[in-house]
Amino acid sequence: MLVTGKEILQDAHKNGYAVGAFNINNMEIIQAIIDAAEETRSPVILQASQGGIKYAGIDYISKLAKVAAEKATVPVAIHLDHGTDFDQVMLCIRNGFTSVMVDGSRFPLEENIELTKKVVEIAHAVGVSVEAELGKIGGTEDHIKVDEKDATMTDPDEALRFAKETDVDYLAIAVGTAHGVYKGKPELDFDRIKTIKKMTNMPLVLHGSSGVSYDDIEKAVSLGINKINIDTDVRMAFADAIKEFIKENPDEIDPRNILKPARANMSKIVAEKMRVFGSAGRA
Ligand code: G3H
Ligand code: 13P
Ligand code: ZN
Ligand code: NA
Repeated sequence: MLVTGKEILQDAHKNGYAVGAFNINNMEIIQAIIDAAEETRSPVILQASQGGIKYAGIDYISKLAKVAAEKATVPVAIHLDHGTDFDQVMLCIRNGFTSVMVDGSRFPLEENIELTKKVVEIAHAVGVSVEAELGKIGGTEDHIKVDEKDATMTDPDEALRFAKETDVDYLAIAVGTAHGVYKGKPELDFDRIKTIKKMTNMPLVLHGSSGVSYDDIEKAVSLGINKINIDTDVRMAFADAIKEFIKENPDEIDPRNILKPARANMSKIVAEKMRVFGSAGRA
């Protein structure tokens, strides 16, 4: 069933677990995530980045996700990941997304607050939930590249002020994770998660969660993380399965036969994560 992001994440916040938000770019990825959610009885968030929307087209990606959500017997939210552009955020709201992220993290605090407030006012008026980002998460995404030296941790006092002034539904915080593949082992600032949770008492979001050990994920969830963004690990599951299949079956030309093992492999990794996050059995 299609629900808002707030509905899913308020329950996670109240009951101390986290829900996976997995990036979607095509039908097979969507099906893999939904299969895993059904198998584990888990609520789930399907998220499309601006790059994903550019790749598939807003009409294809929103309608594919909508069919998947409406057919599902578990709660599903459709979310915009890293909306850096106001018009893109509006486009997603118009196309039936039930949650949007407005990412003003590249701006100084005042401007981030101003942009987030503007989106919250419009989104809330039509029943759409909003995520914002405070601090700078490291790594590269489609529109933003943050060097390690420029990545800045979220300040707890600023987080409290930001939450109060913007009325945002959930907050992405920078606590040591980075987008993409890690070079070394990520060092999470667990005390910072704990402090921000205590001060804001709201659902918190962890980006760049691929490659973070399950011990660290469990600890982060126990301290207040409620939404966990995963892209890279699903990409790897997809690519690994396709490479392996082509190696073993170099003459195969049927896209269905090539994509089927990739879909199954993605589903397996997504289900595993749902169990670690604590969302399994919540739907
Ligand atoms: O946070 C970024 C996600 O991994 C999306 O990546 O912009 O290449 O679609 P993308
Ligand atoms: P990873 O690719 O590191 O999993 O990060 C995903 C993300 O944060 C999407 O917003
Ligand atoms: Zn992210
Ligand atoms: Na990562």
